[in-house]
Amino acid sequence: MRRIAVIGAGGLLGQYVVKEAVKGGYEVLGTFHNLPVLLPSSQTEFMDITEPDQTVGVLRSFMPDSVILTAALTNVDLCEGNPSEAWRVNAEGTLNVAQACREIDAKLLYVSTDYVFGGSKGTGYFEFESPDPLNIYAQTKLEGERLTLDSSKGNLVCRVSVLYGWNRVSEKKNFVTWIIDSLRSGRELLLFDDQIASPTYAPHCAQILMKLLESRSKGVYHTSGPDCISRYDIGLKVARSFDLDRSLIRRVATAEMELPARRPRCSCLDVKKTEAEINMKMLSLEEGLEEMRLAEGKG
Ligand SMILES: NC(=O)c1ccc[n+]([C@@H]2O[C@H](COP(=O)([O-])OP(=O)(O)OC[C@H]3O[C@@H](n4cnc5c(N)ncnc54)[C@H](OP(=O)(O)O)[C@@H]3O)[C@@H](O)[C@H]2O)c1
Repeated sequence: MRRIAVIGAGGLLGQYVVKEAVKGGYEVLGTFHNLPVLLPSSQTEFMDITEPDQTVGVLRSFMPDSVILTAALTNVDLCEGNPSEAWRVNAEGTLNVAQACREIDAKLLYVSTDYVFGGSKGTGYFEFESPDPLNIYAQTKLEGERLTLDSSKGNLVCRVSVLYGWNRVSEKKNFVTWIIDSLRSGRELLLFDDQIASPTYAPHCAQILMKLLESRSKGVYHTSGPDCISRYDIGLKVARSFDLDRSLIRRVATAEMELPARRPRCSCLDVKKTEAEINMKMLSLEEGLEEMRLAEGKG
């Protein structure tokens, strides 16, 4: 049986990648970090990717054919305030994983971000365009991409944007679940109308990552949703899909708020290359929200 290791199985995307890999008939190892997780039909193990010996030790004892690295320091403002920690986890951690994969001859799929782009283009970015990151998080993720691609020609980098979906393993919220919770408790929401991105439904993204891995693709792919939509408009669509009070949502401009890290204005990703490669359509925000609505409360 083919083996796959999912590093960051306690995260939003990682939990769905584990589920998808189990469904695909793989023997799966999911690694957790601070939060121990139990995942159906898969082994779990502690791993801190900043510890090279431990990282290679865990992978060598499982000997996966492929490794999917979803783990990262994902809080953009936290990275800005703690640059050395961000470099340690997102860049050095990726180097440790990439070196371990080379040692055991496993293919590495690294999950990256739309934030590698500066956002001044104004429309969707293609895979061949040059990144120009605006903040520490994005710089460290871009370095993770380079380390992954330099380590082996067969490796993959998959960029996603504003991940959303029900979190089945922890209380941690994402942009969409935060909007739903806020509106359900009657809280007013201020959402940026000048930050535009390509929201990515985590369960569907997990399917796409597995397809790319199985199609023996290599290099960079954009694996987000196909939309190019502002945070404010995402809020309105969430309110509509979940029948919530949209009058609680107010539009704001990024310049009106003081954020530690700079954000791209428009970091949308063009997904045509991925769709052509695996002959599958990416899931739109409306379709993803509908799937979420139907899946609510079902573990
Ligand atoms: N969330 C988004 O909107 C978004 C947008 C674009 C790209 N991405 C990228 O997509 C990927 C998945 O994002 P996500 O939202 O699913 O992430 P997430 O829910 O924040 O999960 C990240 C996971 O990484 C683990 N982790 C952190 N430091 C670690 C370390 N030193 N060693 C091992 N594991 C460690 C965390 O474990 P603990 O919490 O236990 O420390 C957590 O389980 C990330 O690579 C992220 O950069 C995310």
